Amino acid sequence: MENIGRHDSGERGFTLWFTGLSGAGKTTVAEIVERELRERERRVEVLDGDIVRTNLSKGLGFSREDRNVNVLRIGFVANLLTRNGVGVIVSAISPFKEARDQVRRRIVDFVEVFVDAPLEVCAERDVKGLYAKAYSGEIAQFTGVSDPYEAPNAPDLVLKTAEESPEESARKVIEKLEYFGYLWPREVQDTEYNWSSR
Ligand code: ADX
Repeated sequence: MENIGRHDSGERGFTLWFTGLSGAGKTTVAEIVERELRERERRVEVLDGDIVRTNLSKGLGFSREDRNVNVLRIGFVANLLTRNGVGVIVSAISPFKEARDQVRRRIVDFVEVFVDAPLEVCAERDVKGLYAKAYSGEIAQFTGVSDPYEAPNAPDLVLKTAEESPEESARKVIEKLEYFGYLWPREVQDTEYNWSSR
């Protein structure tokens, strides 16, 4: 029983939840963090809104209700993985507090990261060309333009992606995971004192 929720190395599972506008940099930072975790031999799963919406949440739209259902589904899977010692990285706009808080209450080991870039910057980047369509009215209910985004009140970490590089943001995330005890600092992981990996 002692090992439930723990990885072989003795490290605990966690859900790292990135919330923020489309184009704020959630996926970009998540990819760097994922790489770093794999380098440290952690088991990792990524649940990305865009991908989840092609399978687990296929058919859901962008009404408040559908977005919340999407977020709760992602949270459900994230919880199963987390309690089995996996490091889960979620990137989803997850614009509504009620659904985020519901997930947060369910997952004990939960780290909320607010990927905070100004709307103008996201719209300027317009990586997927969706902001142009949202402003022209071609896409309705677009977060930040014609649909609300409720910023978290007390996130564990805020990433100002308009002011820092994706690598800097990722480093802050890794440091936070170390601080919370979900990850050994590299120097500890690499020394003989890391008894738990034996
Ligand atoms: S969430 O609101 O339910 O959390 P999620 O992160 O899964 O959203 O999906 C958002 C992605 O769907 C965006 O990155 C974008 O590519 C696409 N998308 C399509 N229509 C919309 C819309 N109306 N609002 C936001 N994103 C949209």
